[in-house]
Amino acid sequence: MKRILITSALPYINGVKHLGNLIGSQLPSDVYARFMRSLGFEVLFICATDEHGTPAELAAIDKNMPVSDFCEEMWGLQKKIADDFYISFDYFGRSSSKQNHELTQHFATKLWENNFIEEVEQKQVYSIDDKRFLPDRYITGTCPACSYDKARGDQCENCTKQLEPTELINPKSTISGSKALETRKTKHLFLKQSLLKDKLEKWIETKKTWPILTKSIAKKWLNTQEGLKDRGITRDLSWGVPIRKYGKIWPGFEEKVFYVWFDAPIAYIAATKEYSDKNKMEDTFWKSWWLTDQGAEPVSYVQFMAKDNIPFHTISFPATIFGSGENWKQVDFIKGFNWLLYEGGKFSTSEKRGIFMDKALDLYPADYWRWWLLSNAPENSDTDFTWESFQSTINKDLADVFGNFISRVSSFSVSKFGNKIPSCQTYGTLEMETIERIEHHYGNLKELMQIIEIRKSCNELRALWVTGNEYLQKAAPWSIFKENPSKAGMIIRFALNLINFYSVVSEPFIPSTCMQIQNNFRFPKVTTFPQRATCFLNSLKDEQEINVPEILFKKITDEERITYQKRFSGIDRDETLL
Ligand code: MF3
Ligand code: ZN
Repeated sequence: MKRILITSALPYINGVKHLGNLIGSQLPSDVYARFMRSLGFEVLFICATDEHGTPAELAAIDKNMPVSDFCEEMWGLQKKIADDFYISFDYFGRSSSKQNHELTQHFATKLWENNFIEEVEQKQVYSIDDKRFLPDRYITGTCPACSYDKARGDQCENCTKQLEPTELINPKSTISGSKALETRKTKHLFLKQSLLKDKLEKWIETKKTWPILTKSIAKKWLNTQEGLKDRGITRDLSWGVPIRKYGKIWPGFEEKVFYVWFDAPIAYIAATKEYSDKNKMEDTFWKSWWLTDQGAEPVSYVQFMAKDNIPFHTISFPATIFGSGENWKQVDFIKGFNWLLYEGGKFSTSEKRGIFMDKALDLYPADYWRWWLLSNAPENSDTDFTWESFQSTINKDLADVFGNFISRVSSFSVSKFGNKIPSCQTYGTLEMETIERIEHHYGNLKELMQIIEIRKSCNELRALWVTGNEYLQKAAPWSIFKENPSKAGMIIRFALNLINFYSVVSEPFIPSTCMQIQNNFRFPKVTTFPQRATCFLNSLKDEQEINVPEILFKKITDEERITYQKRFSGIDRDETLL
């Protein structure tokens, strides 16, 4: 397959994400997108902000802003931070777009036509003073199980009991604090997922290559009553996608919007259309990616997400697509991630514990974070971020191995041969052995990236760098330069070609450093990876000018580590430092 569609789970709009969110979807999907582009695949890489739902409304109220202004501002901020981390989205859209409103309403209409949506009458809490129904989080009260007095309508944070809003003792409105509440009857739309059980089961059975994490979560949901329960897909909010059928307000649903988890995944498609519309492309463009009946080259669709998102992507969203009866593209491969922990505990927004994406970049360049997170990606189990591990990984892999190779080779080259690449005699046995080892790791790297094994890919990339260092150590051009300057020149030429090769194949992982190296050395621009590393052995021409790059990676000191450990621990924190 030549075309790869990649989506990264849509970040909630309500705040800046932490490093755990970054490694849970945006970062691994970026490496995959970059790598596949470089292998010559046609890639479309899409993300957007997930803007609806109570958390967005509440965050806006908290900031005293109209929710649409709040979302606009946060979208800009999230986009900027993604850019600063060199996330190479082809498009970063918004789930609140006109395109998503239309598509969401289209899906609902189709599901209705095919009898997968029904109207259900329910009893719900109504606030007389607020003149509205109160969805889950808009009510607080005392937990009937543990007497915690700030339990929310959907769950008690203290004892984790799942609640119905009507179970709360002394309930009050979160919006106004009013206690003038009563139960009233109202209608909601329900998606009858249970009718699609067989279809979903058969479909999931065909996914032989799905990671265990993805498949086990999918199966658990398929086989429990809770998992396939018909889901309410409407909410009593004003911010969201209005409920329409055939383009007209759905009678009885004037005051409601779709549930955020109904419209958010549809925004993957809508964001592609947004991209297409913005660039004045024909509709055939986005349809060629998302509809399988357009006569376009087949697409392989890969989704990235953290494990809590897996049920929605293996059950609810596929159910929406199947139920539409239309030829929408279903996902082919779901890459799920476990949690990233912070120094043995959870990242916590409210306790300011852990490192958030904006703060991270104030401390170290994007590539430091990218490399640590990728080489420690929580693929098979939860992973702990510790400052010790961060310091040692960066100092070893980036500074001592990768950075050191480049600076030793380039400074030796410039000091002995000036600003030109030394011209060559033929490479010898040591070079041939080295290139064989390089070929081996490079082949592995390409295979592992195609099956999206991120950590293992990092190991192979590191092995490529280590091979260069070991070569240099053995070849020791500095000790033979006096008697045999032309052999020393050959060694340096070989090593410089390796640097060129490294700067190309490492770019998906540490793009900013690699671009810096390429610019500094004025290496010829390469857009696709070589078939074999050998192709790079003589990629530099005799006229090639060499400049010593500035220090690529500054080591992380013990002092820095200790300071930051303290600063981000969430305890004892000094506000002025944050
Ligand atoms: N906003 C959700 C989260 O952060 C993810 C939404 S993914 C999509 O957990 F399916 F809605 F797109
Ligand atoms: Zn409780």
